[in-house]
Amino acid sequence: MAFDIDMIKKVYSNMTERVDAARNVVGKPLTLSEKILYSHLWDGTPNKAFTRGKDYVDFAPDRIACQDATAQMALLQFMQAGKDKVAVPTTVHCDHLIQAKSGAATDLKHANDVSSEVFDFLESVSNKYGIGFWKPGAGIIHQVVLENYAFPGGMMIGTDSHTVNAGGLGMVAIGVGGADAVDVMAGMAWELKFPKLIGVKLTGKLSGWTAPKDVILKVADILTVKGGTGAIVEYFGEGATSMSCTGKGTICNMGAEIGATTSTFGYDESMERYLRATDREDVADAANEVKSYLTADAEVYANPEQYFDQVIEINLSELSPLLNGPFTPDLSTPAGSEMTEKANANDWPLTVEWGLIGSCTNSSYEDLSRASSIAQQALDKGLETKAEFGINPGSEKVRYTADRDGILSIFEKLDAKIFTNACGPCIGQWARYSDPKNAPKNSIIHSFNRNFAKRADGNPNTHAFVASPEMVAAIAIAGRLDFNPMTDTLTNKNGEEVKFDEPTGWELPPKGFEVKDNGYLAPMEDGSGVSVVVSEDSERLQLLTPFEPIGNEIKGAKLLIKAHGKCTTDHISMAGPWLRFRGHLDNISNNCLIGAVNAYNQKTNFVKNQLNGEYAGVPDTARAYKAAGVKSIVVGDHNYGEGSSREHAAMEPRHLGVAAVIVKSFARIHETNLKKQGMLGLTFVNEADYDKIQEDDTINFLDLNEFAPGKTLNVEFVHADGSKDVIELNHTYNESQIAWYNEGSALNLIKRENNA
Ligand code: F3S
Repeated sequence: MAFDIDMIKKVYSNMTERVDAARNVVGKPLTLSEKILYSHLWDGTPNKAFTRGKDYVDFAPDRIACQDATAQMALLQFMQAGKDKVAVPTTVHCDHLIQAKSGAATDLKHANDVSSEVFDFLESVSNKYGIGFWKPGAGIIHQVVLENYAFPGGMMIGTDSHTVNAGGLGMVAIGVGGADAVDVMAGMAWELKFPKLIGVKLTGKLSGWTAPKDVILKVADILTVKGGTGAIVEYFGEGATSMSCTGKGTICNMGAEIGATTSTFGYDESMERYLRATDREDVADAANEVKSYLTADAEVYANPEQYFDQVIEINLSELSPLLNGPFTPDLSTPAGSEMTEKANANDWPLTVEWGLIGSCTNSSYEDLSRASSIAQQALDKGLETKAEFGINPGSEKVRYTADRDGILSIFEKLDAKIFTNACGPCIGQWARYSDPKNAPKNSIIHSFNRNFAKRADGNPNTHAFVASPEMVAAIAIAGRLDFNPMTDTLTNKNGEEVKFDEPTGWELPPKGFEVKDNGYLAPMEDGSGVSVVVSEDSERLQLLTPFEPIGNEIKGAKLLIKAHGKCTTDHISMAGPWLRFRGHLDNISNNCLIGAVNAYNQKTNFVKNQLNGEYAGVPDTARAYKAAGVKSIVVGDHNYGEGSSREHAAMEPRHLGVAAVIVKSFARIHETNLKKQGMLGLTFVNEADYDKIQEDDTINFLDLNEFAPGKTLNVEFVHADGSKDVIELNHTYNESQIAWYNEGSALNLIKRENNA
């Protein structure tokens, strides 16, 4: 079963009732984003209006999608919840752990060899708990979701930041951390701060060399990498409806690069065409019946300034192809002479060494067909390709169809490498160099979304530029960053000057999509007999054991580290080489807080072990305290835990025996993650008390047995000289979060309630 039409019909029947109720309580016409949000309230029919950017609201998403890197810990946690099945339709997609090197066949085999235990685990746990499983090589999560699961008006969460791609099919789809996904899988609500709304009015029409990618590159240029923070970006206007559904997906996908909560488009004929082309006639029919609910009220788009917090207008007829980069996706330069000037001024290499087409952002049939029309011209006009080409099709369905239609063979004639239908170079899974750190300065161009230093190939000297697939093709063939295919000529093998014609392509395959094996494994109806495969001596996977409650006697605890300044989730749980241990809590805990700066010596990963007076790494010191039965405490500065929502940043200290994290202020998601893991996340009533804490402190909680909502806690810090400071601490725990603490974790509570 690829999708559940009954579930979708239920969403639509809720929507008609709830949107009308929302319009009443809000007291004015509604945007599409509000319609979707208000029709997915956990409490059902709306009875109050929420304040954008302020109110925290419980939602009930329709679907969950997880990719292989993040799914490991999410599913290990879900197994703790004591449920037979996921409460909400969920899929797992194996796409991040496949390295691009020689080409699809060899690379996929290699990935299946080196990561088989992870894939086998994900497959078995999916089978057991009613989760749809997409095998390695089936495709990139967001393209597969768009082809199979996304539907207009739906709400979905996914453990990947580009989950937002599904906005191309009219969803509110949001990237979350594993802990949030686990809650929803286990039947709990999902909390989100009610977003602000940015309206983007698209007038005119794309033509010639401009593509949907240029729309989002332009929006990124206008809003910058932070401009969408806390907001849903809603696109509308004639320019929006004239674009393909997958093109809309590209725009929503890269909304992650402006920090937006998500992006979306109203239901239109392009979405209907896409649904029908991807075998979802019944979804299209159901959507047509509630059409007016699947877009904003007419008054909203007529006077957007009155209904959105910010409105941007872009005339697509005036838009020209852009190249964004290097090192940031919001630095736009039009193709041609302006690029020559900027590159010379900034010392960006003008020679382009690779052109990469694909990723979840731009790997649709339309993308490949338009880029191939440029590649075909290179063959027809006798041009030699100057840069190397790599292609990552978005899904097996796209790959099979593009292969059938001769699209891939055009690229192959240009010696392109067709990589696996997977993330590959987009996530640094690209064996480009044997020693990337010392690799030479160079430029590459790709149609992906992110271009931070080292992202694609690990080489800090690679200048990566982001452009549409057709521009990537033209620039890779020309081999120069400042080539403008609209005006410039190239010299062919016969010494003639030739010029590219405008790209052409198909929105959808003229002969329809086709696929032999789409790589999907449906779960068993009754998975109770399925055993989950995790080897005892695995270094990448480890079954979790439930955390013991910390209890209300925290006495004689030791200071593990007082972190100075910025302490993000990357400082707490580094990524990079540690990604490989994402499914093994004990092993990944060896990176716990190793990036945090010790306030007493300004060094990282060098703290005093009070049991022996020696300095050592943070994880080793924490393990020493834990082995001695001594609880430890972490102290931090402002906005502690900002960055990603990764739950490892809370699970690792919990696993290593940290009882409380006391800071000047928290990033909210991390604070919630600490609560979910059954720990104390506390803030100073007086920030200056941070300075009173000393390296040799022994810590006693004085009134934890009175832990209650809204009541501060008092903690005694006994210094080495015997003097004491009693420090008052705030917390934001409500009754149910205190129950998580008392139970040892949120999952322990779910499990107990489940068994009750
Ligand atoms: Fe994969 Fe890159 Fe997308 S890592 S999910 S292709 S952003």
